[in-house]
Amino acid sequence: MAILRGHLLGLEPLSSGQILALLDLAEEADRGHLPCDSLRGRVVANCFFEPSTRTRTSFELAARRLGAEVVNFDPERSSVLKGESLVDTALTLEALGVDAVVLRHPCAGAPHQVSRSVRCSVVNAGDGMHEHPTQALLDLFTLRRAFGRVAGLRVVIVGDVLHSRVARSTWWGLSKLGAQVVFCGPPTLVPREFERLGATVCHRLEEALPGADVVMALRMQAERQAAGFVPSMGEYHRLYGLTPERLRRAGPAAVLMHPGPMNLGVEVTPAAAYGDRSLVLQQVRHGVAVRSAVLYDLLAHQAEAAGPQPLERRELALSGSGRP
Ligand code: CP
Repeated sequence: MAILRGHLLGLEPLSSGQILALLDLAEEADRGHLPCDSLRGRVVANCFFEPSTRTRTSFELAARRLGAEVVNFDPERSSVLKGESLVDTALTLEALGVDAVVLRHPCAGAPHQVSRSVRCSVVNAGDGMHEHPTQALLDLFTLRRAFGRVAGLRVVIVGDVLHSRVARSTWWGLSKLGAQVVFCGPPTLVPREFERLGATVCHRLEEALPGADVVMALRMQAERQAAGFVPSMGEYHRLYGLTPERLRRAGPAAVLMHPGPMNLGVEVTPAAAYGDRSLVLQQVRHGVAVRSAVLYDLLAHQAEAAGPQPLERRELALSGSGRP
């Protein structure tokens, strides 16, 4: 039985049972228990409209390890530059035989829109400020490996929560699995509205850290500094930068996580990022297992899945959209 229903668009719609089943499947993948030819004959298209190192590379490794073919679609060298729409691009890839579109896009909801137009599976690899579900799954996987559980952990997420798709997906995953989440950062980047979700909001790092099992730093997005969210990166580092000393204040066994890429010297110092409390490189490594599990679940079970309804495709055909 497939865990997912045709696509992986976010963690918000998933149940705790589905998330735990995906983590269990990722354990199987990490132990090499998924057959290396289980996706033979399947084609996975990596479609990244924003830069990526970890997500794109680990999806490619995961697909190849399960025997799938991989197409690395490059928007900058494609007919997108001639005005072809995202949906038309996805329909074109599907017509070429693609079974799964792995999509990163600056617009929130882009993978959802594509999923309503194609028969193949769509995996959200990060959509605007909305969700990044496989990052959250690998974070949960890493926590379960480190602590043996997620339920009951106190996780302090520090930084630019407002603009972070990682924070949103990780919040859904952590809260569904019973962790306690504290968002910490300047009021401009961690507004009180997040309390409505059920999270604790704290603007002073020294108040947030004590008792934390996990401190997760988010990337400070330098491009947003001009918008005046923080006075300067130096000031941000002074108030919220994670150092070995600050981690020690969190608790004797507290660990550091960061989704990457890191701004060393801003949200985290090199000594903390690569110190003995850091799980950062384990997070990266677990990305392959988690993405293997997702692709395996979507594609090895594809025949028995209900499959998405391609309503928009018919609407597009009737309206004449999609013609060259
Ligand atoms: N964490 C993350 O999504 O990294 P990349 O942008 O390198 O894929």
